[in-house]
This record gives sequence, structure tokens and C-alpha cells, in this order.
Amino acid sequence: MNCFYILNKQFFLKIFLLFSLLILLVSSGFSQADGEKIFKQTCAACHRIDGQKLVGPGLKDVAKRVPQPADEWLFKWIKNNTALQKSGDEYATKIFNDNGKVPMLVFEGVLSDDAIKSVIEYIKNPPAPPTEPATGQNAVTQAPPPQTEGIGLTYVLLIITVLLIVMVSLLGVIVKYLQDSINAAKGLPPSSPFSVLKLAARHKRLVALIGIFFIISVARALYIGLMNVGVYDNYQPVQPILFSHQTHAGKLAINCVYCHSGAEKGKVAGVPSANVCMNCHKAISSGPLTGTAEIAKIYDAVGWDPAKAAYTKPEKSIKWIRVHALPDFAYFNHSQHVVVGKQQCITCHGDMAILDVAKQNVPLTMSWCINCHRKTEVPGMNSNPYYADLHTKLKEKYKDQPLTVEKIGGLDCIKCHY
Ligand code: HEC
Ligand code: HEC
Ligand code: HEC
Ligand code: HEC
Ligand code: HEC
Ligand code: HEC
Repeated sequence: MNCFYILNKQFFLKIFLLFSLLILLVSSGFSQADGEKIFKQTCAACHRIDGQKLVGPGLKDVAKRVPQPADEWLFKWIKNNTALQKSGDEYATKIFNDNGKVPMLVFEGVLSDDAIKSVIEYIKNPPAPPTEPATGQNAVTQAPPPQTEGIGLTYVLLIITVLLIVMVSLLGVIVKYLQDSINAAKGLPPSSPFSVLKLAARHKRLVALIGIFFIISVARALYIGLMNVGVYDNYQPVQPILFSHQTHAGKLAINCVYCHSGAEKGKVAGVPSANVCMNCHKAISSGPLTGTAEIAKIYDAVGWDPAKAAYTKPEKSIKWIRVHALPDFAYFNHSQHVVVGKQQCITCHGDMAILDVAKQNVPLTMSWCINCHRKTEVPGMNSNPYYADLHTKLKEKYKDQPLTVEKIGGLDCIKCHY
């Protein structure tokens, strides 16, 4: 009997295989990073991950206090807390009353089911101790979100794999040495030298499989990393004030250009100054979602003292975090699209009026611009005689074909790059 059975070569191979599988699982997205990112972007404005209350309760050990099974309850709650309350859930009604009847946001249609599940995983097992609370104006920076996590992880795993191969080889040498001493004692010839290469040669198909897998995962990580340089689809940072488009553009139906007046005048749509907010908020000091907390930040920015109803303190600027940003080498003009091109905000920005936190809904890549220019017809140019003339000529040239932006030169490099 071979007493080193447990150290035989098959055993190494199995370990190696298992490890490869592990890498496959990890690199195909079973990581917690997503949940953490979503939490920071969508929940951190109201919740801390530790025990402290912010707008909502601190979420430490939350899975232990909610009705069991916790995952199921949390899923229903996060998806649509109002619906859960209406369904007669006692705990839901209790925490609503305990928290001054401040409703939580409804995330149905905002977060996918998978996103909600990854957030639940995150709040159940948060990593390291919490950082500073994400309130106040100093908590925000202009930094874009890191998009390269995938690459880092793959590198670490590759290094571990190389180390593992080295270890297997070393162990192989030891096994050979021990086997040889047994053989010598029994008077048998020494065993053949162990090498990973030989092992590999005997299991070609397996090795090929593992090889293919590694090539694919490295390529995938590199591809994702490179394609995301400067592209931040779905970017949704937490803003210094919990300003809700759903409340203002949705519920109150305030026109987009009331606040983003630049969109009809020129290149930049612009974010309204705090004085625009004060048109209404001199009178409105509290809202249903956040009470007075968030509106107080507007007062702080303009130096308004609500008790005296006067501007008494120095002004500060509100540091809104820019959500959309094209690279400098690309030119985009709002009024050209909104006024001349008669495009709706919703076509390019998605339905902002249902969002509590502004988000980049479109990729802003060159192919996104080009695709629209290929299929969108130029609206009537009759308002301007110069264009009307051009329009008629182009219409004659292209006969019955639709007059798309492409036909007026909307695909010329120089129109967007100069
Ligand atoms: C606008 C603020 C706000 C946001 C954003 C928010 N919540 Fe809440 N949350 C609350 C409030 C307030 C409560 C307390 C219940 C109530 O008043 O309805 C609560 C309650 C909870 C509870 C139950 C806590 C307990 O003690 O039982 C969980 C879990 C929870 N939120 C998770 C989340 C997650 C996950 C997100 C992000 C996807 C999120 N919340 C985003 C305000 C918010
Ligand atoms: C009451 C004022 C107000 C109204 C009305 C309003 N917005 Fe906004 N909008 C803001 C503020 C303040 C910000 C910056 C904070 C933020 O990003 O949430 C903003 C941010 C944005 C952004 C992201 C800007 C960036 O940084 O890239 C877009 C896009 C946008 N709004 C589109 C719209 C559209 C479309 C509508 C109409 C459906 C609309 N807004 C209505 C105040 C308003
Ligand atoms: C044809 C597509 C398109 C339409 C229509 C459009 N936008 Fe934009 N919007 C963009 C692009 C692209 C950017 C990024 C521009 C940049 O970074 O230079 C942007 C950026 C913004 C920003 C933030 C940066 C800035 O320019 O201030 C706001 C706010 C905004 N849009 C609001 C609006 C509103 C409000 C409307 C409707 C009146 C609208 N947009 C219509 C494509 C569009
Ligand atoms: C045209 C009027 C108007 C303008 C302009 C306006 N708001 Fe409001 N805002 C309201 C009203 C009305 C409410 C209360 C909503 C309610 O009771 O449902 C409100 C509520 C809020 C709330 C509390 C949300 C909640 O539900 O607790 C915040 C925060 C807020 N506004 C921020 C801003 C900021 C920041 C600006 C400027 C960029 C702004 N508002 C501009 C009318 C306005
Ligand atoms: C929703 C469709 C749509 C999208 C998306 C779009 N455009 Fe346009 N664009 C138009 C229309 C319509 C016109 C025609 C306006 C006119 O009549 O002059 C236009 C015109 C232009 C023009 C002037 C072309 C000319 O020949 O005068 C430029 C430059 C331009 N767009 C840049 C961009 C850039 C850059 C992007 C992407 C960031 C973009 N557009 C995305 C619809 C779109
Ligand atoms: C309708 C507007 C538009 C036209 C026309 C256009 N581009 Fe672009 N281009 C863009 C935008 C917007 C970006 C930025 C995309 C991004 O950040 O991914 C871009 C990016 C690029 C880049 C950087 C690589 C990349 O994908 O990020 C190159 C190179 C480029 N364009 C070359 C060209 C050439 C060459 C032409 C003419 C054949 C052209 N573009 C025509 C809008 C346009």
C-alpha cells in the first residue's frame, strides 16, 4: 500500500481543477463589489451600514430583526416598501411609524432583482468598518467611479494560480523523494521524475479546457476595462443634496427647462443655482421624504435664515456631482438638438421624472450619436429662410428618401471633433 496516497498526482490535479472552478465563479461576477457600489450610490444617502440612524435606521444586523426568512422580507421591502405596508405587514408599518412616518424610496423599476439581491448580500455581510457618513458637502468629490475592479481581481487570481503551480511542483518533488525511499527499501527502481508538464501531457483535454478558460477570462477583463475608459453608463452618484427629479419633475411637474434653462439657449443645459431653488423653497422648508434636513442644505448654501426670513449668512456653492460628461474632444450642443433638432430630453436622458437620484441612462459613445443621426429625420427648417432653401434643395436631391441628420452632414467627423 502506498501510504502517500493522499499526496498522489491525481490529488494535485483535483485541487488544481477545483481552484480553476473557483476562479471561474469569482470572475463571472459573484463578487460583492456590485452590492457595495449600489449601496453607496442609492442607499447611503439615507442609511449607514453600522448601527447609527441617518434618515433611515442603521442597517447593522438588520437581517436578524426583520421578519424571517429575512432575505424574502428584505427583497419585498427594498423593491416596494409601500406595497409591503399596504399588504398588511405589521413590521413594515411599525418601522414606518417608528421613523417619523418618513417613507423609504420605492426601488421597483430602478434596481433590477439581481441588483436588489446583491445589495441584500452586502447589508448582511458588510466588509470592514464604515467610513465617514455620506452626508454634508465635504463628503463628495469629482472623482469618476472606478471601473477597473475586474482587472485587478483577475491579476490577483492569476498570481495565485502561478504560485499554486509552483507549490504543486515542489510537492511533486517531495513525493518523488519519499516514493523513491520506499522503492529503495523494497528494492524497486526509482520512480519517474514528477513534473507538472508530464502531468499536463497526460491530461491534454483538461489542460486545454483550463487554458481556454484563462484566456477568455483575461481577455474579458481587459475588454471590459478598455471599453469602459471614459464611458460611465448608469453612473448615478450620491449628490450633496438629496434632490429628487421624481418629486420636482414628476409629482410637481415642473418643466425641465425651468431649471435647466441653458438647454434651449446654448451648448450646456446647466444645473440650476440655489437661487432658483429658493424661488419655491423660501416658502417650503420641509418635504415628505426627508423632512427639513435636505432643504436646510439649500438655506445653508444661500445663507438664508428661515427664522428671520432673511439672507444673513455668507453664500456657499452646492457641489453637485456631474453625471454626464463627454470627453473634451467631442462637441455636443443642447440647443442644436432641443430647439433646432426638436429632440425631447427623454430621448437622450431617459425618464428623469421617475428618478430620485439623477443617473446617466445612455452610453454617450460615438456609436450612440451616430446611430441616432442615421435614423432620425431632420425636422422642418422652414422657420429660417436660409435653412428652408437648403431644405428644399436637399429634399429634391434625395427625392422620397427620409432626410436624416446623416444627409445634412451629421456623420462628418469635423461636426463633432475639431
Ligand atoms: C430617502 C431615504 C432612503 C433611501 C434612499 C433608502 N432608504 Fe431604506 N429606509 C428609509 C427609512 C426612512 C426607513 C424606515 C422605514 C420607514 O420609515 O418607511 C428605511 C428602512 C429600511 C430597512 C428596514 C430597516 C429596519 O430597521 O428594519 C431596510 C432593510 C432598508 N431601508 C434598506 C434600504 C436599501 C437596501 C436601500 C437602497 C437600495 C435603501 N433602504 C434606501 C429611508 C431610505
Ligand atoms: C427643480 C429643478 C429641476 C427640474 C424641474 C429638473 N431638474 Fe434636472 N437637475 C436638477 C438639479 C439640481 C440637478 C443636479 C443634481 C442631480 O444631479 O440630481 C439636475 C441634474 C440633471 C441631470 C444630470 C446632470 C449631469 O450632471 O449630468 C439631467 C440629465 C437632468 N437633470 C435632466 C432633467 C430633465 C430631463 C428634467 C425634466 C424631466 C429635469 N432635469 C428637471 C434640477 C432640476
Ligand atoms: C440629443 C440628445 C440630448 C437631448 C435631446 C438632451 N440632452 Fe442633455 N445631454 C446630452 C449629452 C450628450 C450630454 C453630455 C454633454 C457634455 O458632456 O458635454 C448632456 C448633458 C446634460 C446635462 C448636464 C451637462 C450640462 O450640459 O449641463 C443636463 C443638465 C442635461 N443634459 C439636461 C437636458 C435637458 C433638460 C434636456 C431637454 C430640454 C436635454 N438635456 C436634452 C444629450 C442630450
Ligand atoms: C417650482 C418650485 C420648486 C423649485 C424651483 C424647487 N423645489 Fe424643491 N420642492 C418643491 C415642493 C413643492 C416640495 C415639496 C414636495 C412635496 O411636498 O411633495 C419640494 C421638496 C424638496 C425637497 C424635499 C424632498 C422631500 O420629499 O422630502 C428637497 C430636498 C428639494 N425640494 C430640493 C430642491 C432643490 C435642491 C431645488 C433647486 C435645484 C429645488 N428643490 C427647487 C418645490 C420646488
Ligand atoms: C436622439 C437623436 C440624436 C442623438 C442621440 C444625437 N443627435 Fe446630434 N442631431 C440630432 C438631430 C435631429 C440633429 C439635426 C439638428 C438640425 O436640424 O440641425 C442633430 C445634429 C447634430 C449636429 C449638427 C450636424 C449638422 O450637420 O449641422 C451635431 C454636431 C451633433 N448633432 C452632435 C451630436 C453628438 C456629439 C451626439 C452624441 C453625444 C449626438 N449629436 C447625439 C439627433 C441626435
Ligand atoms: C455625431 C457626432 C460624431 C461624429 C460625426 C464623429 N464622432 Fe468620433 N466621437 C464622438 C463622441 C461623442 C466620442 C466620445 C465617445 C466616448 O467617450 O466613448 C467620439 C470618440 C471618437 C474617438 C475616440 C475613440 C473612442 O471611441 O472613444 C475617435 C478616434 C473618433 N471619435 C474619431 C472619429 C472619426 C474619424 C469620425 C469621422 C468618420 C468621427 N469620430 C465622427 C462623436 C462623433
